[in-house]
Amino acid sequence: MIALRLLLLLALLLAGVDGAWNQRQIRKKIHQLRQVQNFKSFYSRLAFPRGPGRYVPPVEGYLTQPLDHFNRRNNDTYRQRYWINEEFWKRPDGPVFLYIGGESSESEFSVLSGEHVELAQTHHALLVSLEHRYYGTSINPDGLTLDAIKFLSSQQALADLASFHLFISQKYNLTPKNAWICFGGSYPGSLSAWFRLKFPHLVYAAVASSAPVRAELDFTDYNKVVAQSLSDPVIGGSAKCLDRVRESFQEVNSMLHPGNTSKLEKDFSSCSPLHAPEDYAEFVSNLADIFMGAVQYNMESPGSDVRKICENMVAAESAYEGLRTVNKMYMEFIGLKCVENSYEKSLADIKNTSISLVGVGERQWYYQTCTEFGYYQTCEDSSCPFSPLMTLKSQLDLCTEIFQIPPDSVRQSVKFTNEFYGADHPKSSRIIFVNGDIDPWHALSVLKNQSRSEIAIFINGTAHCANMNPSRTSDPPSLQKAREEIADKIREWLQSASMME
Ligand SMILES: *[C@@H]1O[C@H](CO)[C@@H](O)[C@H](O)[C@H]1NC(C)=O
Ligand SMILES: *[C@@H]1O[C@H](CO)[C@@H](O)[C@H](O)[C@H]1NC(C)=O
Ligand SMILES: *[C@@H]1O[C@H](CO)[C@@H](O)[C@H](O)[C@H]1NC(C)=O
Ligand SMILES: *[C@@H]1O[C@H](CO)[C@@H](O)[C@H](O)[C@H]1NC(C)=O
Ligand SMILES: *[C@@H]1O[C@H](CO)[C@@H](O)[C@H](O)[C@H]1NC(C)=O
Repeated sequence: MIALRLLLLLALLLAGVDGAWNQRQIRKKIHQLRQVQNFKSFYSRLAFPRGPGRYVPPVEGYLTQPLDHFNRRNNDTYRQRYWINEEFWKRPDGPVFLYIGGESSESEFSVLSGEHVELAQTHHALLVSLEHRYYGTSINPDGLTLDAIKFLSSQQALADLASFHLFISQKYNLTPKNAWICFGGSYPGSLSAWFRLKFPHLVYAAVASSAPVRAELDFTDYNKVVAQSLSDPVIGGSAKCLDRVRESFQEVNSMLHPGNTSKLEKDFSSCSPLHAPEDYAEFVSNLADIFMGAVQYNMESPGSDVRKICENMVAAESAYEGLRTVNKMYMEFIGLKCVENSYEKSLADIKNTSISLVGVGERQWYYQTCTEFGYYQTCEDSSCPFSPLMTLKSQLDLCTEIFQIPPDSVRQSVKFTNEFYGADHPKSSRIIFVNGDIDPWHALSVLKNQSRSEIAIFINGTAHCANMNPSRTSDPPSLQKAREEIADKIREWLQSASMME
């Protein structure tokens, strides 16, 4: 029965990929692959059960939450999805490990597989996870309309977590003896750090993986790290590879002239003709996304492999031909017949307010960039190997166009976010910030110890959130060492928690 249920879930997750920006395609694909990875790892654990007793499948449930925690005169609500796995829990005093969702739908694997699940097994923790408001099924049917989306924010999400803490504590009669530790990666990694920062009475410690805690409007450093990684021999990059990427984009840029784009359309399998100038920007962004995605998710999938991409760039007859080959490889990986470069179509996708219950929440995430974080991955700096058509203005224009949020408002919101949370110098304690040195997002995270208990772990040669995956024998030594350091700290902190009570 369990197997059948999980197989059905897997089939659902692997179902169709619709057309749009390459970045969205890559994120969707990686989201799916992570689920598959979790599925496999979970299965190998089931095949060799270590814990005592029978396996009890996780509980899925819904908690009714106020839509606006900060205005109780508004009595609108929504239903937020959660999972609970009691499999490892030592009643009544065992700790509680909270996995925080965000950016996409979650699944039962959020309490079945991953680094936090392995740690829960060691420490006999109760595993709970909460899907982020407005993502997955944790949203009202009209949730994505311009009016309804206004209650999507990290602050509301943290309040949701506080109310979930109360719900779980009541359900299991928890006391302060049950130390809570929260986990999250990427934006939820920031939420993990911020939950500890803002609610230290609720959560004893936090692990924040690849957490971009410093908001930044113009995230030009993203592509600086991408360039570094493309020339990093540790992961199969080289100076020659980076040169070739730069050269190929220069050539493409020089060919983008009105009435003269048919060769590019054909060579790079564009679904539709490129009309100036928004489609040009869309086209070069889509090509750049292939490299950005490969670096950010290096080795997470056969399609994100810097070594393979660099081998092809270097071996090709010319830089231009190398880019064509890499584009073909990407299309094969995602399963695309052509690449959608129409700005109008992209815009229509993000303007679309119909809800998709599974996968990445692109409209929601774009809204959060416009109202809190910026994070726009631009290429206007001369060190960027891609195209100067990837401008800050074009991304800010989307905030205006889609959500009627003007550029100045985005600017102010980003500043406020940093003021509100403390950017990359949060004044907290018992937080582990974990980053990989080839992950472009590390540029916005905490890379140095802030104090004796606000610790930074910087992993040599790994990409985005690598430590959160289930451990594998193929993990590089640097990653294995990082996992040990995280495990040691958690052991130490749980010991100190039990002594305090
Ligand atoms: C919600 O508030 C409105 C007034 O603002 C009130 O008329 C309505 O009865 C309330 N609904 C519930 C379920 O409390
Ligand atoms: C049009 O593109 C071709 C290469 O595809 C190039 O040789 C030619 O100079 C371009 N013409 C203009 C006007 O840009
Ligand atoms: C919005 O998305 C839904 C589901 O993906 C799709 O069926 C619908 O056609 C889209 N609407 C528009 C206007 O693009
Ligand atoms: C950071 O803190 C950890 C844990 O206390 C320690 O092992 C490490 O040496 C520190 N790193 C630096 C650079 O001080
Ligand atoms: C990272 O690891 C590689 C070997 O895989 C080594 O050559 C390099 O010196 C390491 N870099 C740092 C900063 O430790």
